[in-house]
Amino acid sequence: MHLNRRLLFSLFGGVAGVSLIFAAYQTVGEIHTLRDDVQRQALVLAESQQRPAQQVLRGGSVRDQQAFVDQFENHERLAGVGLYDAEGRQLAVTSGLTSVPEAPAAVKKALQTGRVRGEFFAAAFTPMHILALPVSSAGILIGAVAVYHNVAFTAAPIWRHAFTSVAQTFLIVGITLLIVRWSLGRPLHRMTQWLRDLHSGNIPPGGELPNEEIFQPLASEVTRLATSLNTARAAAQEEARLRDTAQSIWTPEMLRISVQTKLDGSRLFAVSNREPYEHGYKGGSVTWTVPPSGLVTALEPVLRACDGIWIAQGTGPADRETADESGRLRVPPDHPQYTLRRVWLTPEEEEGFYFGFANEGLWPLCHIAHTRPAFRAQDWEHYRAVNQKFACALLDEMKNDKNPLVLAQDYHFALLPRMIKEKRPDARVAIFWHIPWPNPEAFGICPWQRELLDGMLGADLIGFHIQAHCNNFLETVDRALESRIDWGHFTVNRQGGLTAVRPFPISVAFGADGAAPSESSFLDRADLLRELGIEASWIGLGVDRVDYTKGIPERFRGIERLLDRYPEYQGKLTFLQIGAPSRTHIKRYQDLMTEVQQEAERINRRFRSGSWKPIVFLERHHSHEEVRRYYRAADFCLVTSLHDGMNLVAKEYIAARDDERGVLILSRFTGASHELADALAVNPYDTDELADAIHTALTMPVGQRSERMRRMRAVVQEHNVYRWAGNLIAELAKVRLEPAAGASDGPAAKPGRPVRAVMANRAAAR
Ligand code: G6P
Repeated sequence: MHLNRRLLFSLFGGVAGVSLIFAAYQTVGEIHTLRDDVQRQALVLAESQQRPAQQVLRGGSVRDQQAFVDQFENHERLAGVGLYDAEGRQLAVTSGLTSVPEAPAAVKKALQTGRVRGEFFAAAFTPMHILALPVSSAGILIGAVAVYHNVAFTAAPIWRHAFTSVAQTFLIVGITLLIVRWSLGRPLHRMTQWLRDLHSGNIPPGGELPNEEIFQPLASEVTRLATSLNTARAAAQEEARLRDTAQSIWTPEMLRISVQTKLDGSRLFAVSNREPYEHGYKGGSVTWTVPPSGLVTALEPVLRACDGIWIAQGTGPADRETADESGRLRVPPDHPQYTLRRVWLTPEEEEGFYFGFANEGLWPLCHIAHTRPAFRAQDWEHYRAVNQKFACALLDEMKNDKNPLVLAQDYHFALLPRMIKEKRPDARVAIFWHIPWPNPEAFGICPWQRELLDGMLGADLIGFHIQAHCNNFLETVDRALESRIDWGHFTVNRQGGLTAVRPFPISVAFGADGAAPSESSFLDRADLLRELGIEASWIGLGVDRVDYTKGIPERFRGIERLLDRYPEYQGKLTFLQIGAPSRTHIKRYQDLMTEVQQEAERINRRFRSGSWKPIVFLERHHSHEEVRRYYRAADFCLVTSLHDGMNLVAKEYIAARDDERGVLILSRFTGASHELADALAVNPYDTDELADAIHTALTMPVGQRSERMRRMRAVVQEHNVYRWAGNLIAELAKVRLEPAAGASDGPAAKPGRPVRAVMANRAAAR
């Protein structure tokens, strides 16, 4: 490590300056003490000689006077003694004391004042001290006696301290340099080498900086920076590769750039009931979790890519504590990238809006899963009020934004688009319906179908997963409302506002989620099974919220049928069902949980032998990282939804299988089955078909298995969640805002110039 001159100069200057100041201070103190000593000794001596001096002055001969002063010869620091007459003239001084003045000023002053006088002076370049004591006899001044000291010795501390401070300076600077070299130089050198390697690409993504304790805070920041750099480099390489192969695969970076250019400075606002991060308590400290929700899985990477604002219900026990007074906080908690604004509901509101109308009314209404919807007027009132509450929060968040872009999510917010558009006609509003839309007859049983449809048609764009749901929606509008439907362009014109209805198949992040590819799925699987205490040759997997639309009991019955029809799997195949408890406040969900547990127990009782059992029900929410291990361990993944808008578990399983192993068995009644032609399609109600599909999966030739997985991975990679968001936002950004009559307030809707939305293709539609 090379130390620059500035550091050396400042070290030397600083240390030398400080030592010199201290040395000067000490020297002055010491000199004062020494001089005080000399004065004291001189006074004691002079006083002790007052009487003899009196005798010599009064009647002594010149010889007596000389003898008197000579007795003080050859004392160490005492230079000598002098005798003076009443006028201050020298009578005798100790031999050898030749350089002192004949009539010293101190003697004169002592005689004039009648008091003892002392002063320092130089005699022939020798520093001296004189103390003069007046001598009287019978009240008359008859002369003075003076005591002389050589005080050259008082200069010694100056040299001693000067020498010590120079030595100290060198010592301190030397030690400091050694410490700097050992404690900073070496870690700095290692860090520099690490950064150099990173720059030249010799560090693998996720490679940790060497543990340098002294630089720990810096090291964390550098590691984070390095991770971003690696991610950016990987993205750039991937994009270059894709350009070369003429594919176009959406990445978070592409989405960010695309959104920025499309929005031209506008911001993205998402609204959903479920929040992406829930804060709670564990062991006395605050922790956070990501709730199990396909919507959250899909929307989270989009918000991260665009630094948008996500408005959602605050449901965690520590949610208020972790947000500011307006309910805002930056998330993800460990690496903030966008803003979450939490909205608080009262228990009554949550009961009526969430459990009641949304999940006991609309959820079973839209899913054909043979659970009868419940419609209660009180729930409907809460649903309307909560939509209004969220709309107010959203209007507040976007009050300073011109032409904001709003993505309302799901069946919880059918009324919100109209509420927003009425207040902010300059906003471009989309609602994405994450669940199926049934046929008009099925939807028509809802007592408030017109209000729901009208609320949704406040949006400029309505998105579903597949075209069939768009068609069902348009037919429902056709039957229920006054409107003009353009079947050529899939638009609805109602009261002058135009709404486009389009399919946007939602997806997963695929590879951009930061998960490192595993070294060996085989070893991971062995570890996982050991942890679970399972010994089995084949592993099947199901991952779901425990919801009656997911077909979990049907799936178990498929396993049972397999073991009946193909007994060779008994003792060898174990089906792992991860079941996250969901909406447990609703009786239908409580009953389902009991049913699932009982079915698993019944089947296990039938086939169990030794330590083996066919079904392991893991009844808790697992994080994405945890689930990924199961995905990679499973020989087949069973998705048997009775009805599902898309089903992201199917896509997550495919995304996790970078080893191209594993077979997906997929219900025909999921949106995903429209895209994933290489899955084994099943009717979950058909137990025999399920059993046969599992058998086919387990006996499929390796080549065919990886060929199918490869093709499905290509589909999911290309149609990833960034493409979903990119297409949705691009379509919404196409909405032209035109002056129209009757629109209301908002920053961009200036008085007298209200606007309303029309689709860019409207002219073509005519
Ligand atoms: C489905 C819905 C989401 C919902 C999720 C979890 O995926 O489309 O809107 O968030 O289920 O349900 P929950 O009621 O727990 O939010």
